[in-house]
Amino acid sequence: MKLLVTGGAGFIGSNFILYWLKKYPQDYIINLDLLTYAGNLENLKSVEANPNYQFVRGDICDRGIVETLVEENPDVIVHFAAESHVDRSIKDSGVFVKTNVLGTQVLLETARKKNIRFHHISTDEVFGSLEINDGKKFEETTPYDPRSPYSSSKASSDHLVRAYFHTYGLPITITNCSNNYGPYQFPEKLIPFFIANLMDDKKVPLYGKGLNVRDWLYVEDHAKAIDAVIQKGRIGETYCVGGDSEKANIEIAKLLLKEFNKDESYIEYVEDRKGHDLRYAINANKIKNELGWKPEVTFEEGMKLTIDWYKKNESWWRKLTKLS
Ligand SMILES: NC(=O)c1ccc[n+]([C@@H]2O[C@H](COP(=O)([O-])OP(=O)(O)OC[C@H]3O[C@@H](n4cnc5c(N)ncnc54)[C@H](O)[C@@H]3O)[C@@H](O)[C@H]2O)c1
Repeated sequence: MKLLVTGGAGFIGSNFILYWLKKYPQDYIINLDLLTYAGNLENLKSVEANPNYQFVRGDICDRGIVETLVEENPDVIVHFAAESHVDRSIKDSGVFVKTNVLGTQVLLETARKKNIRFHHISTDEVFGSLEINDGKKFEETTPYDPRSPYSSSKASSDHLVRAYFHTYGLPITITNCSNNYGPYQFPEKLIPFFIANLMDDKKVPLYGKGLNVRDWLYVEDHAKAIDAVIQKGRIGETYCVGGDSEKANIEIAKLLLKEFNKDESYIEYVEDRKGHDLRYAINANKIKNELGWKPEVTFEEGMKLTIDWYKKNESWWRKLTKLS
């Protein structure tokens, strides 16, 4: 199979490429990535000389580049490229609309001309926010209610992807996944940011009272879910993906403090994020029952793997903390 991956130099995209080339060494991957602050070719060092891997630096909004790559007849476009950090979207939403909405439209329009299978990577944030103790979870039929510029731009892209299925019959699938963590995550995101701070004996800043709850999935399990949907997913369908692992931010902070032998004086409570969604939770029964996927790494195992990775790869993240 030939894959055109967008955003493959970012956190999840690079983990996906490493996973895919290990599992399917006969497959060919073209990685189109603009290398924004979040893109890092160091993540892909182990495959850069692989004859079945090609990196192309370019913008998904650039129709010319996208058309040239689609001329290479990929069997599937796996679309990760996005601006992905909520806090940045609150400061400046423009580039979020450009990349996440217009970029997705350019890819869809180009894919349509050759009827190329299109898998879109999205987020659970499009569904809005749940109450802390209401027992509800997001699922495929949950109405969209995005509340940050980031989640609104991702919601727009999901709608466009579905519109290309209904209007043009483009063979699409979508995954809406909860928060990922693991190796190669840019140290502006909660878990690597806290690890980096604690390794430098600095406090961890916690929004509000730290009560916001997220579901967490180890990144390789996300790659496996995308694999399952690409191989076996029903065309036109959306699959919610989650780790069955809801944690309040304060629980994560406390777990990390324990790992680094620090007391709670290392928590610094800071002013809450504007419009901060309270709780996200995912019901992943559809992908579990239909495609046989389930998370394989528990939160405790995943956190150990992640902490070890950041300890062993200090040179990787130290350069990036200057950019965040
Ligand atoms: N990180 C999460 O927890 C999470 C959860 C669910 C869904 N997602 C989605 O998964 C995808 C990947 O997320 P991530 O955390 O790996 O993001 P990331 O920010 O780490 O990586 C994004 C990548 O896209 C590239 N990119 C940005 N703009 C581009 C453009 N215009 N053209 C080409 N490449 C461009 C960047 O250079 C970078 O390599 C995103 O679509 C995101 O919405 C992320």
